[in-house]
Amino acid sequence: MFQVNQHYLELDESYLFSTIARKVEQFSTSHPGADIIRLGIGDVTLPLSPAVISALHRSVDEMGEKEHFRGYGPEQGYAFLREAIAETDFKNRGIDISPSEIFVSDGSKSDTGNIGDILGERNVVAITDPVYPVYLDTTLMRIGKTDKIRLLRCSEENGFLPEVPAVRADVVYLCYPNNPTGTVMSREQLKRWVDWALENESLILFDAAYEAFIRDESIPHSIYEIEGAKRCAIEFRSFSKSAGFTGLRCSYTVVPHELKVVTADGSKVSLHYLWNRRQSTKFNGTPYIIQRAAEAVYTAQGQQEMQQMIDSYMQNAALIRQGLSESGYTFFGGEHSPYIWLKCPDGLDSWQFFDRLLERCHIVGTPGIGFGAAGEGYFRLTAFNSAERTAEAIGRIAQLSSTR
Ligand code: MLT
Repeated sequence: MFQVNQHYLELDESYLFSTIARKVEQFSTSHPGADIIRLGIGDVTLPLSPAVISALHRSVDEMGEKEHFRGYGPEQGYAFLREAIAETDFKNRGIDISPSEIFVSDGSKSDTGNIGDILGERNVVAITDPVYPVYLDTTLMRIGKTDKIRLLRCSEENGFLPEVPAVRADVVYLCYPNNPTGTVMSREQLKRWVDWALENESLILFDAAYEAFIRDESIPHSIYEIEGAKRCAIEFRSFSKSAGFTGLRCSYTVVPHELKVVTADGSKVSLHYLWNRRQSTKFNGTPYIIQRAAEAVYTAQGQQEMQQMIDSYMQNAALIRQGLSESGYTFFGGEHSPYIWLKCPDGLDSWQFFDRLLERCHIVGTPGIGFGAAGEGYFRLTAFNSAERTAEAIGRIAQLSSTR
């Protein structure tokens, strides 16, 4: 009889956001007409910007023209997009990343999950708790529940910033600005991680999907702002939250040429070579029209429109912070991030508070426990709804607090 990957059987029955979607679906079926406000999954609500829409129209037309039609593209992404990324996201910030170090993809969820394909199974993998569930679940899918997975506890006491591991870890996932806690890492804190990785010959998988929400220029947008990081880190970036591409799907991963690993026979292998080998075998590239849309984000108009979008979400975040503060909640994040991490009131656990908010306020959020055991007793709200719906939600939460 054939066998399955047993590790899948050790996973929770469904992915966090699928569980929530099912619960909300059940609630709306049993409460027809309930006006539900969604502050759960970090999905954007503003439409794509005019610069992106025109680029989509133009490239769709090209695909219908004999002389411009494109079939398979380069698996790594078209040069026009890789060059625009290198110039705007890195060179303009004084960071030396070449277009050839950039791999365009269809989402950071795929890349942060797939990166495990090029890593050995004996690695000790350190993962923060709480964490974006993809890092943990995809590691479990690959190596199963083993003592090779070490959780780095993030709590109020350490400001939700993990300590560098006291015992050996070969690979560590870091996400800053952080999903789910909305907290950020200062340059000094990130440097501590880079120094640790260089000293221990460890690899940092740095998810910077939320860097565009940083409001204070002293906070690093990229791990490559730290000296030496090109020798120990892979960085993931996304157009999903910054430019509203959750439905279009486009992201990129930076694998520097300098990043090398010593193999069992003592020879040095480049991770860039391995990731390129993986991508060109398992991935046929992000669609041409999507890459043209992403390129439009880097035009002057595109940058301005993206900034307006981010500003608008950050105004929602400020509204949520203010509302929670007035209602007496303890919370974190929301200053350089679209996520606000609050402490559940009245000693409720995460799912109890989820039920209370859904039943009494018709608001959907994300229970902290869904991001790991250390998330128990916490709850995540997103700033990605409209200003109007966010204000409405905050009003409902204030009312709930006044009747507690
Ligand atoms: C989230 O809500 O954590 C994000 O939407 C997840 C994702 O980007 O896949």
